[in-house]
Amino acid sequence: MSYEITKTIQGEDVPFSNPAKEFYSALGYDGMKDLMYRFYDKIYESEIATFFPQDEDEFNEIKEKNTLFFIQICGGPKIYDESLEDKGLNEYMIRIHDDFSIYEKSRLEWLGCMEEALKETDMDQTLKDNFWDYVERFSKLTVNTFNEESKYMASLQ
Ligand code: HEM
Repeated sequence: MSYEITKTIQGEDVPFSNPAKEFYSALGYDGMKDLMYRFYDKIYESEIATFFPQDEDEFNEIKEKNTLFFIQICGGPKIYDESLEDKGLNEYMIRIHDDFSIYEKSRLEWLGCMEEALKETDMDQTLKDNFWDYVERFSKLTVNTFNEESKYMASLQ
């Protein structure tokens, strides 16, 4: 089923495959850029916007880098970092997220933005499903904060 999400379980092994090369071939550079820019526009309006720089130029830099990453991970030209092969690239991307406290809730918001962006994209659903499978799984590896309760949170009356 399209856009299905399963819960992240702490410490669980998450097998995943990179998206099919056909996803990038179908969209091309401009289509990929269009998808990622629309995705980040949604992120900017989402609950997880506060994770990202509020400065527009800095935010645009992330949009651009994100596009280059997704092109490379989909088997397109190695324009994000040519020194990193697929495995190294995925490991590097997990580490980038270690700097932020990402909850399951943040992942769901991220995936929700991606679902909307994909739905607006005119392409074969099988390719979208394949790409979704990658982001649904890989996003589990960005979740690094599992205790949703704060030590000093005052209680509501
Ligand atoms: C499939 C899952 C994900 C992928 C492939 C992904 C990919 C990326 C990429 C390519 C970047 C830019 C790295 C760079 O600066 O070169 C990035 C940065 C970032 N991502 Fe993700 N991401 C994913 C999930 C998430 C989730 C669930 C969150 C939740 C909040 C998140 C939050 C961030 C943040 C805060 C940054 C850094 C922004 C900064 O540099 O200030 N990401 N991600």
